Amino acid sequence: MTRSLWNSRWGFILAAAGSAVGLGAIWKFPYVTAHNGGGAFLILYIGFVFTFGLAMMMAEMSLGHATHKSAVGAFRTLGGRTWTVVGYGGILTAFIIMSFYCVVGGWTVAYLVKALGGDILVSDPTRLEQIFNDLISHPVEPLVYHALFMALTAGVVMAGVQSGVERLSKFLMPTLFALMLILIGRSLTLPGATEGLVTFLVPDFAHVTAVTVISALGLSFFTLSLGMGAMLAYGSYVPRSMSVPNSAIWVVGLTTVACIMSGLIVLPAVSAFGFEPRLGPGLTFMTMPAIFAQMVGGYGFAVLFFFLLVVAALTSAVSLMEVVTAFGVEELGLQRRSAGLLMAFFMFATGIPASLSLGIWREYTLFGLNIFELLDYSTEKILLPLGCVLTALFVGWRVWKLIAHQLLENDSHARFWLPAARISYRIIIPVLILWVLLANL
Ligand code: TRP
Repeated sequence: MTRSLWNSRWGFILAAAGSAVGLGAIWKFPYVTAHNGGGAFLILYIGFVFTFGLAMMMAEMSLGHATHKSAVGAFRTLGGRTWTVVGYGGILTAFIIMSFYCVVGGWTVAYLVKALGGDILVSDPTRLEQIFNDLISHPVEPLVYHALFMALTAGVVMAGVQSGVERLSKFLMPTLFALMLILIGRSLTLPGATEGLVTFLVPDFAHVTAVTVISALGLSFFTLSLGMGAMLAYGSYVPRSMSVPNSAIWVVGLTTVACIMSGLIVLPAVSAFGFEPRLGPGLTFMTMPAIFAQMVGGYGFAVLFFFLLVVAALTSAVSLMEVVTAFGVEELGLQRRSAGLLMAFFMFATGIPASLSLGIWREYTLFGLNIFELLDYSTEKILLPLGCVLTALFVGWRVWKLIAHQLLENDSHARFWLPAARISYRIIIPVLILWVLLANL
C-alpha cells in the first residue's frame, strides 16, 4: 500500500497544530486554569509544555516518521511484540477520549445553531448558565448534536486525513487565530476585566498542590495531543526530507499561543460579567456569548466563533479517530470507509453514557466523579502521562540510535542537544512523570 503524504511542511505543521488546537485549548484550558487558581498553574503548564511536551512531540513524530506506520505497527516494527502494548493502549485511550470529546463537540454544534438563531446574545450570567445547563442536562438534545458531530468526524476520516485535514487546517487555523486576537481586544477592554486578567497572569504559588501539578501535566499532554499515538500517526505521513524538530517546535508554540489567547479572552470576561470562576466545563460556553452581546457586530462574530470552534474541535477529533481507524486499516485489514464507520458507531455508543451523566444519570458516580468526569480524569491524568512514560522509555532505551540518527539527518543543530535529550527520555521524563502520578494518588 502506498501511503499518501503531506503536501508541504506547512501542511503538516498546520494539520498537527489542527489536532492539538481544539477543545483542549479553547474549552478546557480556561476552566481548568480558573479552577486551579490562575497564574501559578499557567506557569506550570507552560513549563511542562516546553520541556516534556516538546520532547514527547519530537519522540512521537520521529517514531512515525521513522516507520511510516501508525502506533501499533510502529512499535512492533521497532520493538517487537511486547511493545505493541503501548500502541494498543493508545487505541484504548483514543476511544475513551472520543467518548467525551465528541459530546463537547456536539455542544459546539448546538451553540453554532443557537448563535445562528441569535438567541444567545445576552450578557446576564444567570441566563447564560441556564442556557448551558438546559442543553447539557437534556436527555435527547445533546445526543442529536453529538451524533451530528461524530458523523462529521467520520466523514473527514473516511475521506482520508491528508486531503481533508490539510485543506481544512490550512485555511481555518489562521482565521481562528485572527478572530481570537479581535476577541482578546474586546474582552480586555470590558469594564472589570482587570481582575480576571490578574488572576490569569499573576502567580500565587501558595495554593499549588499535587493536584495542581498533575492537572498542569495532564493538560499539557492533552492539549498537545500526546501520549496515545496521534502525533505518531501524523508523523507517519511526513515525507523523509522534512525536519521533525522544527515542526515539533511550531506545533508546540502554536498550541501554547492558542491556550494563552483563549485564557485572555475567557478569564477577563469572567470577572467583567461577574461569572463564578469555578463554573467548570461550562465556562467558555457561558462567557463567550456575553462577550458577543457587548460587541458591535456581535451576531456575526458569534456565528464565526462557534463555526471555527466546531472546525477546531473537528480537526482534533479527526486525529483521535484516525488513530483507531488506521489500526483497523493496517492491522485488521479493513477498508478505510468501513473502519471509519464502524469506529464512529462504537465511539458514539460509548459517548451516550458520558452525555447522560450530565443530566439524568447524574447520580451515578465513582470517587465523587460522574461518568463524563471519570472518562476525562482517567485519560488526562493517568493514561496519557503513562503513554508518555512508556514512549519516552522506548525512545531512550530501545531505539535511541535510530531516532538520534534520524534527528541528526534532518536537523544539524540536533548534535548540540541530543545528549540532553537522551538522558531526558531515559531517566528524567519517566521518573518525573511517574513521581507526579504517584503523588496524585
Ligand atoms: N489536543 C486536542 C485538544 O486539545 C485533543 C486531542 C486530539 C488529543 N488528539 C489527541 C488529546 C490525542 C490527547 C491525545 O482539543
